Amino acid sequence: MVARDPSAELMRLVNGYRVSQAIHVVATLGVADLLKAGPRSADDLAVSTNSHPRTLYRVLRALAAVGVFREEADQRFSLARMGRSLCSDAERPVGPYATFVGRQHHWQAWGALLHSTRTGENAFHHVHGKGVWEYLATHPEEGAIFGSGMTGNSRGVAERIMSAYNFSPFRRVVDVAGGQGALLAAILAAHPTMRGVLFDRPEVVAKAGPVLEAAGIADRCEVVGGSFFDAAPEGADAYLLKYILHDWDDPASVAILAACRRACRPEGKLLVMERIVGPPNEGPETKISDLIEPAWAILRPAPGRTGIIPVKPANSSKCTQAGSITCWSLPVGRSARVTSSPLCLLRRGSAWSGSLKWVPACQ
Ligand SMILES: C[S@@+](CC[C@H](N)C(=O)[O-])C[C@H]1O[C@@H](n2cnc3c(N)ncnc32)[C@H](O)[C@@H]1O
Repeated sequence: MVARDPSAELMRLVNGYRVSQAIHVVATLGVADLLKAGPRSADDLAVSTNSHPRTLYRVLRALAAVGVFREEADQRFSLARMGRSLCSDAERPVGPYATFVGRQHHWQAWGALLHSTRTGENAFHHVHGKGVWEYLATHPEEGAIFGSGMTGNSRGVAERIMSAYNFSPFRRVVDVAGGQGALLAAILAAHPTMRGVLFDRPEVVAKAGPVLEAAGIADRCEVVGGSFFDAAPEGADAYLLKYILHDWDDPASVAILAACRRACRPEGKLLVMERIVGPPNEGPETKISDLIEPAWAILRPAPGRTGIIPVKPANSSKCTQAGSITCWSLPVGRSARVTSSPLCLLRRGSAWSGSLKWVPACQ
């Protein structure tokens, strides 16, 4: 076996930003969809995408060298396996997320990771002077691009979540901060008698119509705009929180969980879906994703906090695994109040037995 050159490997990682930005370019231009009918030249694609032919050729050539496209002998390009995931009808579409990742506001925030590392301050806030959700609310085009990125990602994992967790006992499900509703739409489509409530910020749910209609479930899905710091829609028997708690510091996470507890039926369930940070030296995907906390989402990290979830829960019987996503199913009691979120406990390295820590008092 040929020993790999460590400097060359490191250099490949260092230059990863170029690949990321090149994928962002072709995703934004919609190149993959244009190649579905067969190979095309860069000149031809440049006409269809209103771009500069020689520069587009170089971008495509570079991406063909890393396996996104294939460059044929006549300099025409076709889709390689990875490139098919950039098509809008891909089973696990990556194009919307790639479009979002290269946006300037996002790119600039990651450019301040050094500042964040030196000071502990949130990089996004340092660069833009406001938190990410406030920024997206005041930049509707960016908000819509972010929303589509999340929708693509949720489409990619909805099937795995449904095969890992049995949703059929539920009659009414609220997806709390459910974005444009891709996960909820998939769950309702698979359960014809179930009703759903999509809940997120008003400007986010305003864009949900096409996603819900395409799934054929719009008539069974109520759409509610609001903030989970005020209240969650009442009276459902399941509340989903997918990729939410990792965005918030511990007091905010507790407030979100408490709002769900107040709204939930007594026999209801809270389903928390997050990814686990694995043991040392493993799982680069989740650990690199975890950097969104300082770079992007968390304004005030708790002291000692070192990850989305640093350890696997001691009792994993309440957990199911959907690919890299762990789903916790938590019973909700009426005469209880949330004192701590599972993430808060785990972040502090405490053993968590698989249920929320409740104390008997109403709030
Ligand atoms: C990381 S995204 C996850 C979206 C979706 N659950 C998914 O997995 O695709 C976080 C979501 O939280 C929503 N959000 C942020 N602040 C909120 C608030 N105060 N109330 C309700 N939703 C909020 C955002 O609009 C966004 O859709």
